[in-house]
Amino acid sequence: MSTPTIFCAEPARADYALRLEQRFGLERLKRRPDAGYWLELGAERLQLITVGKHGAVFAEFVDGAARHRREQGGGRGQPVARAVGLKGGQTLPTIVDATAGLGRDAFVLASLGCRVTLVERSPVAAALLHDALERASMAPEVQAITARMQLVHANAITWLSELPADRQPDVVYLDPMFPDTGKSAAAKKDMQAFQTVIGDDLDSAALLQAALGAARARVVVKRPRLGDTIAGRAPSGQIVGKSTRFDLYSLKGMPRD
Ligand SMILES: C[S@@+](CC[C@H](N)C(=O)[O-])C[C@H]1O[C@@H](n2cnc3c(N)ncnc32)[C@H](O)[C@@H]1O
Repeated sequence: MSTPTIFCAEPARADYALRLEQRFGLERLKRRPDAGYWLELGAERLQLITVGKHGAVFAEFVDGAARHRREQGGGRGQPVARAVGLKGGQTLPTIVDATAGLGRDAFVLASLGCRVTLVERSPVAAALLHDALERASMAPEVQAITARMQLVHANAITWLSELPADRQPDVVYLDPMFPDTGKSAAAKKDMQAFQTVIGDDLDSAALLQAALGAARARVVVKRPRLGDTIAGRAPSGQIVGKSTRFDLYSLKGMPRD
C-alpha cells in the first residue's frame, strides 16, 4: 500500500502537520490533489478527503453523535457495556480496543468509566484518532473521558502478543472490518470512503488468537447481527441487538455480566 498523504490547508498549523507526518509516517503534499484520497489539516481539524465519495471523514469526541451518545447513551445496560462485563458497583474492567477505527466504541466504554487503550494500525485512522483526542483534551465537557483513552499506533496482533503479563487488560475488544457479505446494512457514504481507504481486515483469525492470549477475562467481538463468527470459532456467549451482535469468548476469572 502506498504511503498515505497529508495536505496542510492552514499555514499556521504547519508545525502540527509536521508532527502528524512524523508520528504516523505520512507524506506531505504541497498542493491539494484532485484525485484519490488524502488527509487534510484545516483550521479546525484533520479529516480524510476522498474524491468522488461524499463527506469528509473525521473522528469526533465532543460534538455530533459523540455528544448524543454521552448525553442520551444507554448507560451500563446497553449491549456493548454488558458485553464487556460492566455492571453496577463492580470494578471497571480495563480494556484494549484492538481495532480502534474512529474510536466510537472506545469512547462509549470510556464514557462509562473504563480505561481504554486504543490500538490502530492504519496510519490514516490513527492520525484521525490522534487529532480527535487533541481537540477533546481542550474541551472541558469531555476531558475527563478522553483522559481515560490512550492511543497506540501498532498492529494489535504483534502488540498484544508482546504485552507483559502485568499490563494485560481484563477485556480485549475487537470490531474488524469484514468483507461485505450482504448481511450487514450498507454503510453511510462517508463511512464507505473510510472502508475503501482502510480495506478489509483479512487477518482477524490471527487477531482473535492474539486477543485470547492477552485478555485476562474475556474477548468481545462485535459483528453484524447475522454475520459469521471469526474463523467459525464458536463463542461461549452472545449478546444480540437490533443490528449488532457481540460474541463473547470467556477466559479464566471472568467478570460476569
Ligand atoms: C470496523 S473498524 C472499527 C470501528 C471502531 N469499533 C469504531 O467504533 O470506530 C476496524 C478498524 O480496525 C483496524 N484494525 C484491524 N485489524 C487491526 C490490527 N491487527 N491491529 C490494529 N488495528 C487493526 C482497522 O485498521 C480499522 O480501522
